[in-house]
Amino acid sequence: MTLFTRRTMLKSAAVVGAYGAGLAVMPRLNQARAAPEPIEINAFTDAVMLDGKQQTRGVMRYAFSGQASGDPQPPVLRARRGEPFAARLLNRLDEPTTLHWHGIRLPNSQDGVPFVTQPYVYPGDTYDYAFAPPDAGTFWYHPHCNTLTQMGQGLAGVLVVEDARDPTFDGEVVLNLRDFRLGGDGQFIEQFKPRDAAKTGTFGTLRTANWQREPRYDVPAGGLVRLRILAADVTRLYNLRLSGAQAEIIAFDGHPVPQRMALDMAVVAPGQRLDLAVRVADAEGMEMVLEDIRPSTPKVVARLRAVGSSLKRSLGDLGPLAENAGVEADLSSATEIPLLLSATAENAARDSICGSIGYSFWAINKIPYPGDTPDPTAPIAELKLGKTYLLNLENVTPHAHPIHLHGMNFKAIASNKRAVQPLVSDTYLVLPDEKVQLALVADNPGDWVFHCHVIEHQKTGMTGYFRVS
Ligand code: C2O
Ligand code: CU
Repeated sequence: MTLFTRRTMLKSAAVVGAYGAGLAVMPRLNQARAAPEPIEINAFTDAVMLDGKQQTRGVMRYAFSGQASGDPQPPVLRARRGEPFAARLLNRLDEPTTLHWHGIRLPNSQDGVPFVTQPYVYPGDTYDYAFAPPDAGTFWYHPHCNTLTQMGQGLAGVLVVEDARDPTFDGEVVLNLRDFRLGGDGQFIEQFKPRDAAKTGTFGTLRTANWQREPRYDVPAGGLVRLRILAADVTRLYNLRLSGAQAEIIAFDGHPVPQRMALDMAVVAPGQRLDLAVRVADAEGMEMVLEDIRPSTPKVVARLRAVGSSLKRSLGDLGPLAENAGVEADLSSATEIPLLLSATAENAARDSICGSIGYSFWAINKIPYPGDTPDPTAPIAELKLGKTYLLNLENVTPHAHPIHLHGMNFKAIASNKRAVQPLVSDTYLVLPDEKVQLALVADNPGDWVFHCHVIEHQKTGMTGYFRVS
C-alpha cells in the first residue's frame, strides 16, 4: 500500500486530470463496450511563460475543457489497451486543425490526416475521435494540418496506453521533449530557414522538457521509476544518457524490447519514444541527470531527485511489460518496395489551407509530395490486405530521416550500416547512406501516410502514402 500511495502522490496534476476527465467513465474490460463519453480537448492560443523571462504570445495549447489554468503543456492522455477511448477536439484556434494519434493502430477514419482520412476541422468546430488502442505503451498526439507552425508553437502531447498486467513501478515521470523557436524578446521567430529546411531542419532556440527548462522531479529513493520519453520536437534528435542511476531500456516507440538492456546512450529522433526503468539512487537528495550528449557540450534535459528513505528495490525485481502484437511477417512471400529518399528542387508544394512552406527539397522515389491538398499524388504503392512487404529504404542524402508510417507497425530486418534488432516500431531513423529493410504486414485497410518526422522535410516533399485494400 505504501508503494501505491507514493505512486499516486508522484503523479502530476495533468495525469490526475486525465483520469478525472476520461478514464473514470470508461468501462472495464469484460463489460459492455459502449463508447465512453469523449474527453474534450480544446486547442487554443495563449500567452505562456516559456523562457522564464517573458510571456510568449501565440503559444498553441491543448487543455481539457475547463482546465486551461495550471500546467500549460498538453495534458498526458491515458487510455487502456483494448478499451474504447474517445476524444472530442474543440478547435478554438483561428485556423483549421486535426488530431493524429501517432503510433496507434486504429481505423483509417480516425487517423487525423486532412484530405486523406478526414476533412480538416474549421475554427469553432468540433471533431470526434474514437478507437480502442490494441497496443500498450508510450504514444502521442499532434495535429496533421499546418504542422510546422502548430507543432512548432506547442501542439504535441503524450498518450499513454496502459495495461494492468504491466509491472508496478514506484513512480512514473513522463517527459515531452521539444524546443521553441523564440527571439530575444521571448516571441516566436520564423519557424524555419529555407537553407536549413534543405539540410537537417531548423532548430529551436529554447530547449524544454514538459515546457520547462531543466525541470526536476522528485522520485522515491531506491525505487523503480518508469521514465516515458517523447521526442516531440519538429527537428531535434537526442542522444540521451542518464547519470547517477542504473537504467534499463524497456521499450522503444511504445513497444517492449524483447530483451531489456542497460542504457548507455540512446538515440531518440523526432516522433520516437523511449521507455526506461530507472533504479533511483538510495541516498535522499541524490540527483540523477538526463542529458543530451549530441551537442558538443552536453545539455541537461531533466533531473530526478531521490526523496525519502530507500525502498531498496532492484531492477531484477521488475517483471516484463505486457507484450504487444509482433509483426508476423512471411518473408518467403514478401513483395519488395524500393523507397528512395533523395533531395530535389522540383515542384514546390501547392498552397493549401493546411499550410505549405512553399518549397520543395525532398522526395520519395523522386516524387516530392504536393502537400495537403484535395488532389494528392497517387499512392507510393498499393498493398494487398494481409500480405507481407519489405520496404527497402535507401537514403541517398547526407542527413538522417526519422521515417514514420501511420496505422501499422514494421520491424527492421537488415541494414548496410548497423546491426539492427527486429524491433517493432512506427518510426525508423534512416541514417545518411543507409539502406534498410523494414518488414510490414499490410493488415490495416486504408490510405496511410508515410513521411519524415523532421517536419520541414515532411512539408517540403518527403511524404507519401500507401493504399491497403
Ligand atoms: Cu507523428 Cu504523420 O505523424
Ligand atoms: Cu527527413
